Formats: sequence, C-alpha cells, structure tokens
Amino acid sequence: MILYFSGTGNSKYVAEQIAKITSDEIISINNKLKNNDTSDVLVDDRLIFVVPTYAWRIPRIVRDWIMKTNFKGSKNTWFVMTCGGEIGNAEKYNKQLCNKKGFIYMGSVGIVMPENYIAMFNSPKDDEIEEIFSQADKEIKNITEVFVRNKQFPTPCNSLQDKVMSGPVNMLFYPMFVKAKDFYADDKCINCGKCVKVCPLNNIEIKNNKPVWNNNCTHCMACISYCPTSAIEYGKKTVSKKRYTCNK
Ligand SMILES: Cc1cc2nc3c(=O)[nH]c(=O)nc-3n(C[C@H](O)[C@H](O)[C@H](O)COP(=O)(O)O)c2cc1C
Ligand code: SF4
Ligand code: SF4
Repeated sequence: MILYFSGTGNSKYVAEQIAKITSDEIISINNKLKNNDTSDVLVDDRLIFVVPTYAWRIPRIVRDWIMKTNFKGSKNTWFVMTCGGEIGNAEKYNKQLCNKKGFIYMGSVGIVMPENYIAMFNSPKDDEIEEIFSQADKEIKNITEVFVRNKQFPTPCNSLQDKVMSGPVNMLFYPMFVKAKDFYADDKCINCGKCVKVCPLNNIEIKNNKPVWNNNCTHCMACISYCPTSAIEYGKKTVSKKRYTCNK
C-alpha cells in the first residue's frame, strides 16, 4: 500500500510511478485529512509513505495523522520523501515514528523534484524541470526494486548540518514561518472555488465572493499554485513569481 500526501503534485506523481510497477493500492492522505478520516487502514504487503519534505522532515500534519491512525497488517514501512534538494536527517524522526507505531523501519530516501515552496524560494525554469524529472524517473525505478525485493534502503551518512536542519531548524520553522495570514486573493480572482477544494486542511472559505484564509495551514502551496488565474499572493514574496504544479 502506498499512502501519499502532496501539495503540488510531485509526491502524487512519484506514488503513481511506484504503483505502476508494484501494483500497490494508492491512498491519498490529502483526502483523509480533508475528511478528518482516521479510520483503520488495512495494509497488505508493505507500507510506503510518499510525502514532500517540509523543513528536512516529513510534514508534521502527516506525522500527526499517522499517529492518530491505526494500521493493521504488514508492518514493513518505507518513507519516500520528495524534496527540492535535501531531506537532511529525516531518517532519525521517521525511525522514531516507526518505533512509536510498532512499524518495522525499512528506510528513508529523498527524491529530488522541482522546488514548490514559492513563499520562500523560486521554482525551477521549464528546462530545469525536465532535467529534474528525467533524473527522478531513474531513481524511482531504482527504489521500486528495493520494495519488490523487500530490502531496506541504505543508511545515509548524515552531517552535522543535516542534524541541525532536521532538529532545531525544523522546530523553529513551524512557529516562525508556517502561517496563513499573508495569503490574499487580488482582483484576478474569479471566485471559482478551486483554492477551497484543493486545501487539504479546509482552511479556506469564500466570503463576499473572495477566499479568506483561517489559521490551520501547513504551507503546502496547493491554493496559491493551483489558482487558475494566479490571483493568490503570499505577502510580497510571491509577486511576479512563476507558480509550480506537477503536470506529468
Ligand atoms: C513548507 C515547505 C517546506 C519545504 N522544505 C523543504 C526542505 O526542507 N528540503 C527540501 O529539499 N525541499 C523542501 N521543500 C520543497 C518540497 O519538499 C518539494 O518541492 C516537494 O517535491 C513538493 O512536493 P508536493 O508537490 O508533493 O507537495 C519544501 C516545500 C514546502 C512547501
Ligand atoms: S482559486 Fe483563485 S480564482 Fe479561484 S476562488 Fe481561489 S483565488 Fe479565486
Ligand atoms: S491554506 Fe493553502 S497553503 Fe495552507 S494548507 Fe491550505 S492549500 Fe495549503
């Protein structure tokens, strides 16, 4: 079984590519979160989480959903983390999560995909995106072999910097940066409701024909990136920036 969470489609793409080879069932954690669904999950052969990297760990919202959900069946668990560059020392925290849940930890791997965090950085240019996908497709094939053979991913050699990024920097990241108050929709908004639909946390409502953001946001970038008219901005940080969504 493959469970994925995805803001802008990269992790969904990777989950689907793996499933094409392994024929595993795919389940969307976005839908589970949207429906507040923490009902039991019955795992057949294996448990593969495919998620984006947020501040050098799996998204906190995914970790919390895993903690609240009861998994029955196979315990062998892998983490595939799509990222713009680095997953740091995510392994340590994924192992801890497995210990808490009684899963058998089989390893964590990062797959570099186009950067989507436009509230902080720029997404890559089109030709760079093509190159990133061609490299990622090769890696997806390699890791799929690991699942099929029921092997563990190799243990990464983490530097002090990796430990700092996944440790204290991750802890500071959420309270300091992950806020919805800077989102707004400008005059280009056509009141289509797509931002409301794609938000996995139901954090957006339409009031007086315009979206309004509440306080339950994980900065997944779905609303701002999928808006069909690029009407959404995040303070001044996203003005004139290219929006990225996976269109593969
Ligand atoms: C809130 C946030 C934090 C991120 N932190 C990291 C990070 O620590 N390291 C990294 O390499 N990429 C980071 N990224 C980039 C994403 O992990 C990457 O683009 C991912 O493939 C997006 O997946 P998705 O399209 O499935 O949401 C971050 C993106 C967001 C939105
Ligand atoms: S997705 Fe964009 S155009 Fe549609 S309601 Fe939201 S802000 Fe307006
Ligand atoms: S408000 Fe936007 S960035 Fe925040 S969780 Fe919802 S879709 Fe993601």
